[in-house]
Amino acid sequence: MIKTKIAGVGYYVPEQVITNQDLEQQMDTSNEWIVKRSGIEERRWVRDGICTSDLAFEASKKAMKAAKVSSEDIDLVIVGTITSDYFFPGVSAQLQDRLNLHHIGAFDVKAACSAFIYALSIGDQFIRTGVCSTILIVGAEVQSKFLNISTEGRDMTVLFGDGSGAAILQKSDDESGILSTHLHCQGANIKDLWMEAPGSAENCQMTNIKLEEGRHFPLMNGREVFRNAIVRFPEVIQESLDASGLTLDDVNLIIPHQANLRISQAVAKRLGVGMDKVFSNIHKYGNTTAASIPIALCEAVEEKKISKGDVVVLASFGAGFTWASAAIRW
Ligand code: ACO
Repeated sequence: MIKTKIAGVGYYVPEQVITNQDLEQQMDTSNEWIVKRSGIEERRWVRDGICTSDLAFEASKKAMKAAKVSSEDIDLVIVGTITSDYFFPGVSAQLQDRLNLHHIGAFDVKAACSAFIYALSIGDQFIRTGVCSTILIVGAEVQSKFLNISTEGRDMTVLFGDGSGAAILQKSDDESGILSTHLHCQGANIKDLWMEAPGSAENCQMTNIKLEEGRHFPLMNGREVFRNAIVRFPEVIQESLDASGLTLDDVNLIIPHQANLRISQAVAKRLGVGMDKVFSNIHKYGNTTAASIPIALCEAVEEKKISKGDVVVLASFGAGFTWASAAIRW
């Protein structure tokens, strides 16, 4: 059976570091509160003039270099993001142009924290059916420009960071590759993690009323997110193992979406595995939504936490609610 391999990965984060102490200057919060509730110590936020497509571009160049592919080789681009530069078109169109990818298909996936695994799953189908030979998938976010950076928005603002990660997908020529992917959504929970405006639900114009009510800021029901995440993560990880005929003992590394260290710890406990098997870099970058899994995957590779032949499970949970997993033999 044809399998899809990840031929190369790359990531890019903006250089500006925002520490918890920096946030203490901007809102009523504390380093102690943030570390205890989330494990986050600092995050990267872009400086003025930098947007999501810039981060996506940098990560893509690195992934292409790692996979030794040029622009002419790529025949599809999929970008996961909820923070595109413009309301439309998507970041994928900008990326297609900036990388000189001649007239190939390009689209965005708006599946929030699950978007990278959604993109991976879609790309996997195109490779296995032989429709495409080299696909660029990206997760990129500039969250900082959408946050309510004040005491009112502190529950969300302290959690989120900016960044990007990318991967090149190609047909595998050995046993390595994607073993299975699993995508889920429970739309009944949309309002537990969402940003209402601008949207077509009402007259799309951003009125003063909407701005005064802060309906253009993201909102989260933290307890509901936590309650669902700690159930869905273990469930979807187990689903990927069952589909691949594997057990947790076969898994070398789980790379969860970096939502919150407390969520990852609760998931590890429910699975009965140690945190040494669950990758975490949230202390450095915060929650970067669609970018968190590819950034973590790159760092795991850089830190030699993944070797040839290892089984890696990617898992996500986020707005929608969406959740997803992918089992990969490296
Ligand atoms: N700094 C200081 N205080 C804060 C902050 C902050 N940044 N944010 C909220 N608070 C306050 C609240 O106003 C509230 O104060 P009050 O009691 O005076 O009303 C209090 O802290 C709530 O704190 P807790 O008692 O810990 O509340 P709870 O147990 O409900 O936990 C929390 C809230 C931490 C958000 C929890 O629900 C949680 O961890 N949820 C997970 C959310 C998450 O990590 N999402 C990740 C992003 S989404 C994703 O990627 C899937």
